[in-house]
Amino acid sequence: MDEQLVPEQAPDFAAAEPPAAAAGPVIELRGVSKAYPLPTGRGSRLAINDINLTIENVPGRGQCRVILGPSGCGKSTILKIIAGLLEPTTGEVLVDGQAVKGPSRQRGMVFQSYSSFPWLNVLDNVRFGLDLAGVRRDEGDDRALELIKRVGLAGAERLYPKNLSGGMRQRVAIARTLACQPRIILMDEPFGALDPKTRREMQDLVADLWSDPDLDTTFVFVTHDVDEAIFLADKIVVLSAGPGTILAELEAPAPTDRTRQGLATGLYSELERRVVELIYGDRDGAVPGGAG
Ligand SMILES: Nc1ncnc2c1ncn2[C@@H]1O[C@H](COP(=O)(O)OP(=O)(O)OP(=O)(O)O)[C@@H](O)[C@H]1O
Ligand SMILES: [Mg+2]
Repeated sequence: MDEQLVPEQAPDFAAAEPPAAAAGPVIELRGVSKAYPLPTGRGSRLAINDINLTIENVPGRGQCRVILGPSGCGKSTILKIIAGLLEPTTGEVLVDGQAVKGPSRQRGMVFQSYSSFPWLNVLDNVRFGLDLAGVRRDEGDDRALELIKRVGLAGAERLYPKNLSGGMRQRVAIARTLACQPRIILMDEPFGALDPKTRREMQDLVADLWSDPDLDTTFVFVTHDVDEAIFLADKIVVLSAGPGTILAELEAPAPTDRTRQGLATGLYSELERRVVELIYGDRDGAVPGGAG
């Protein structure tokens, strides 16, 4: 259980209904830097520096911006700042033109560590946010059951997290986040702890979800796995080693042109080469997929 999830993920149900999608960018980071205090208590160290990132609003089309960079470059810091769990030291974050002041149900987060509530079954885990929002029980059940089916967990509604595999638990986390109909889903290396086969299945699920125009949810997905980035992204944001700065934003192949076979047969090797070169320079030993 991710400890910070319980209090901080609690959606801001007191907030007004999400505004209709504004014409401006969905997410905008303007000159965002973050310095953490040093453990000695004296001074601080910059984790990210002057991040400027715009994710435009594309009506009728989902988006998945993947943030890729070496370990410690500040990927989680950026996500937490967008989530409103952390304040930037300088700069600001806007979501649909509004400054982010704290967590909100409009911005759901899925972490690497499993975050289901162990005392609730799958259905009640997915319903959790809906209950808090005061959604009527039958309505909440309908919505939760539909999402449980959507993430491939039909039949598992009454199981408890301890009886679920890692992949199933992440499906619960995704369904629970989707239940609140967020504008943005922030995913921090959500599949890092899964075996390769399950990881591929989960990537398929996310690819399916973000490209679903009916959901109209923007995904921001953090990874240090180059193949995962190429498979999932509409654009890949490549970060330098810490303090993280944006080195490049690269277009990924369109979802319709992107296949597992293409990945396996090196169809995207040019993109892969560019990403690896950006992260490592032309240093020997750069291994695609091993950027972290
Ligand atoms: N709460 C904190 N206090 C002090 N330093 C921190 C804190 N959180 C992160 N850092 C430091 O900030 C830098 C960026 O951390 P962050 O976790 O954002 O990187 P990351 O890219 O997500 O790394 P990883 O790939 O290992 O998950 C690292 O040097 C880290 O040690
Ligand atoms: Mg991290």
